[in-house]
Amino acid sequence: MMKFKAMTAVAALLIAPAAFAGGADDDTLTINGELEMTTKAPAPEHLDGIFDEVISGWHFRSDETQQLETDDFDNPGMIFVDQAMDEWNTAEGSEGKSCADCHGDPAESMAMVAATYPKFNEEAGELRTIQMQVNDCRVNRMGADAWKYDSGNAVSMEALITSVGRGTPVQVAIDGPAAEYWEKGKELYYTRTGILDLSCASCHEQNYGNYIRADHLSQGQVNGFPTYRLKNAKLNGIHSRFKGCVRDTRAETYSTGSPEFVALELYVKSRGNGLSVEGPAVRN
Ligand code: HEC
Ligand code: HEC
Repeated sequence: MMKFKAMTAVAALLIAPAAFAGGADDDTLTINGELEMTTKAPAPEHLDGIFDEVISGWHFRSDETQQLETDDFDNPGMIFVDQAMDEWNTAEGSEGKSCADCHGDPAESMAMVAATYPKFNEEAGELRTIQMQVNDCRVNRMGADAWKYDSGNAVSMEALITSVGRGTPVQVAIDGPAAEYWEKGKELYYTRTGILDLSCASCHEQNYGNYIRADHLSQGQVNGFPTYRLKNAKLNGIHSRFKGCVRDTRAETYSTGSPEFVALELYVKSRGNGLSVEGPAVRN
């Protein structure tokens, strides 16, 4: 009986009214009239037999929402990038240093970071997200406090770092020391959880293009993160988005910054290898 109930819940959630059916649109994204973004790309090899093409979440949003991302003056996420730029130039912590003191202009020093993180750090022997790396600098090089994972400051700084990498193709490494994290992330991606017994793949692989309630399902790519969501009028981190999605399956979820979500971030990001870094993107 329980099983039957769960099955009908899935069906009710996923069956799209026919009138709504449809996949990604054919629009093109150019930012500030000059930065041409790759929002559809041939799927990376590891997705052979699953997808031919990987598609940015931008294609699944309404024209009005898409429009907001075409100009930095209209993109509400850019306000947080400006705030992070002030932070970048401000000395903090016992060493009296700012990010700028060591890294200069982020447009130079940080241009490749968003495309390549999460990345394995040899010295520390761990896979690091951008936020983990920033905290490492804060704690060990500035003598400042770590920022709470996905807190305002942390996500804004991540947005500054991604903004200077926009247009660069996502190219996270999944071999060598990153491989074990990637495998773990992949396993999490395909694990069905919760009362609804759904995995990430149930929605973002098998049903992208369909509607779930009133929301147009995308491939669940992370190339646009941090994303400014109109729904909560702030920047949202990748792990917070994962958390929301897992909660929607009525499952217990992992915390932001947990080893599970770090591994999942690498795996999901690798599903978008070839798409442009797009953060801060605008979503509903
Ligand atoms: C005292 C110097 C110093 C300060 C201050 C500092 N960093 Fe760093 N940062 C480094 C060094 C050195 C590395 C390279 C470390 C490594 O590769 O393990 C690094 C690496 C990074 C990276 C990874 C770059 C890459 O190409 O992989 C990021 C991102 C970063 N820092 C962000 C920041 C931010 C944001 C701040 C301010 C909140 C900051 N750092 C403050 C010295 C500093
Ligand atoms: C019940 C269906 C469902 C499941 C299961 C689900 N999601 Fe989602 N997810 C959504 C919906 C709906 C959205 C908002 C529309 C969209 O972008 O697809 C979304 C959005 C996202 C986004 C934002 C994409 C963007 O471009 O802004 C990411 C990333 C994401 N999901 C990842 C995941 C991951 C990882 C899992 C597994 C832990 C997962 N989702 C499980 C329904 C689901």
